[in-house]
Amino acid sequence: MELFTKIRQEHLETIGEVSVSAPSNIALIKYWGKHGRQLAQNPSLSLTLENARTFLTLAWRGRTYLKEGPGVELVFDGEAAPKFAAKIKSFLDDLDRHELPYLKYFDFTIKTHNTFPHSSGIASSASSMAALAAALVLMGENVFQEHLGQTRLQQMSLLARLGSGSAARSLDGPYTQWGRDQNFGAEEYATALTDYHQSFAGLRDSILLIDKGAKAVSSREGHALMNGHPYASARFEKARENLRRLKEAMRIGHWGDFVEIVESEALELHGLMMSSRPSYILMRPQTLKAIELIREARRAGVAAVCFTLDAGANVHVLYREADQHKAMAFIDNELAPLCEDGQVIHDHVGKGWRQEI
Ligand code: PMV
Repeated sequence: MELFTKIRQEHLETIGEVSVSAPSNIALIKYWGKHGRQLAQNPSLSLTLENARTFLTLAWRGRTYLKEGPGVELVFDGEAAPKFAAKIKSFLDDLDRHELPYLKYFDFTIKTHNTFPHSSGIASSASSMAALAAALVLMGENVFQEHLGQTRLQQMSLLARLGSGSAARSLDGPYTQWGRDQNFGAEEYATALTDYHQSFAGLRDSILLIDKGAKAVSSREGHALMNGHPYASARFEKARENLRRLKEAMRIGHWGDFVEIVESEALELHGLMMSSRPSYILMRPQTLKAIELIREARRAGVAAVCFTLDAGANVHVLYREADQHKAMAFIDNELAPLCEDGQVIHDHVGKGWRQEI
């Protein structure tokens, strides 16, 4: 894929700046295992968050070609971040070799900050890579004076995917699917779900910060654990079946099926980690306690809540907008005490990336 027309002298003389933001997302059907150039072994589906966002300003200055590729300066939370800059530089070098062959003619300054605490156990790779991808597409449109029209979101999602697979799902909302299944979706970028019941339109996610430490296993290592995993092919098949069933539950508004599928996906992801070599247990005692309390509250009719997990100890508590009063009371009274410093981040589904001024 080559996005824009060929570079000419006039393009090299441009300087400019764009500001964007993009949210994090949490998978309901998990992506775990990849192949090729950052492609997923199974389609995944996530909800796009709204408040947990990365804000990013990308400034560029054209110059003559230098063989070392694009120059990158990165400022995170107002301070120079050379380690992070080196990572972004290698990502941009890679894009320059493939999708965006004009990047080597520019120097970049990137300023970024997140709305969620730095060490909160919330992965910032999805929101930051989605924000960077959105900014790169806007920059291309600006430099080449071309508008990508309907494919703009797809291009953003595709570039985000190359930075971090799950980031592909952070550009649009409230629900996006990455990967193809039953004639819907695409392998290279995420597609927003359009056919879901009104009761899922304002779904809420309260994130229990049970362990704010860094992840014990990086996503890259995690995905690699699926190569040669004894349950790999059964898992990829199961994920497809779960996706089909979940979309049907969401289409007709069947909360009971939604709960069953979402919780089993979370536990399956952790089951895969526990049964891989080396094996990882990323849940903490408070994670299990929270799961027990959530299931009890549901059975007893105290609150219509369910949970999902990322590759870590934190628990995402999901509930419909109509149930939010009871759910939030339950979360604040029963679940917040299990969290580090009692910290819970209340969020809800959102629309994805946006341009900032
Ligand atoms: O995008 P990555 O490479 O960080 O992988 C994300 C993997 C999970 O968060 C565990 C699942 C998912 O689908 O987001």
